[in-house]
Amino acid sequence: MSGSSKPIVLLAPMAGITDLPFRRVVRSFGDFMVFSEMVASQAVVRAVRRTGKIMEADDDQHTSIQLVGADPQIMAQATELVCGLGAKHIDINFGCPVKKVIKTDAGSAIMRDEKRAAEIIDAVVKAASVPVSVKMRLGWDEEHMNAKAIAMIAEDLGVAMVTVHGRTRNQMFSGKANWKAVAEVKDAVKIPVIVNGDIVDAETAKRALEESGADGVMIGRGALGSPWILRDIQSAIPTQNAPQLRVKTARTHIDYMFEFYEPSTSIKLSRRIMMYYIKGMQNAGQYRQMATLLKSRDQIDELLELLTLHIS
Ligand SMILES: Cc1cc2nc3c(=O)[nH]c(=O)nc-3n(C[C@H](O)[C@H](O)[C@H](O)COP(=O)(O)O)c2cc1C
Repeated sequence: MSGSSKPIVLLAPMAGITDLPFRRVVRSFGDFMVFSEMVASQAVVRAVRRTGKIMEADDDQHTSIQLVGADPQIMAQATELVCGLGAKHIDINFGCPVKKVIKTDAGSAIMRDEKRAAEIIDAVVKAASVPVSVKMRLGWDEEHMNAKAIAMIAEDLGVAMVTVHGRTRNQMFSGKANWKAVAEVKDAVKIPVIVNGDIVDAETAKRALEESGADGVMIGRGALGSPWILRDIQSAIPTQNAPQLRVKTARTHIDYMFEFYEPSTSIKLSRRIMMYYIKGMQNAGQYRQMATLLKSRDQIDELLELLTLHIS
């Protein structure tokens, strides 16, 4: 880590994962800024019911609401609405690589059109009553690595922070994140730059920070089933007794889900959530099948009991 100061550690936005229960679990390990999954700006403007649930946050959650969209006016309207609902921070998605989003010229597709990127950023910053950040990739492909140009535009227009996932759009999730390439962005702007991609523990965080010179790290997949890694990274001290903590955290996560969703939704989501926690345990193959078959809260509790026995 650079000097003795602690690095900024953030939880990445992940569709279908970074809901209020998971953000709450992550924040039980420290005062981390967390991100909602991306919310389509058109859906916010049309008041689609599901978006409310995605954006819901505890007052103290320090949640950034991530908006995705291609139309500057709609992005601005969505920003106003989200700020009106009490958002503390807005993030603009310039990184999503999936076809469904690219087809609408949103997400990482915007990186191909710097003028459009500037219009969206300008509209959102002007409409927002809270700080705005931008999350992007290195560029569309290896021939078009323009994260630096977009970061400079963002800084000029009043953006407070940029996050760069060290892959191009065409890489999707393949290969390795290129942390060194993020250094070019860091050198070009004064606002905080966050490096993202393949950071899973204190060691990878240290390397990513050294290679990029970034001010902080954003953790996505590494936090699944091991949400305490954000604390490990910030303190540079590995968590002791991880198996016990794993089962305890799984139980807490399940409790938060049942508080937040209808029982049927909670049970459905629990199948996937339990898999993440089980995956990190030794010799837990036998429990995976059970997780996929969960049909009631009682069965979830039974599985948690079995996992407790497994580790004791
Ligand atoms: C299941 C999943 C959903 C994601 N959803 C979003 C999203 O809604 N918005 C976004 O900006 N990035 C999204 N991402 C990308 C992550 O925020 C992050 O940039 C990427 O996973 C690389 O970081 P990691 O290696 O730490 O996971 C998603 C990634 C995954 C695996």
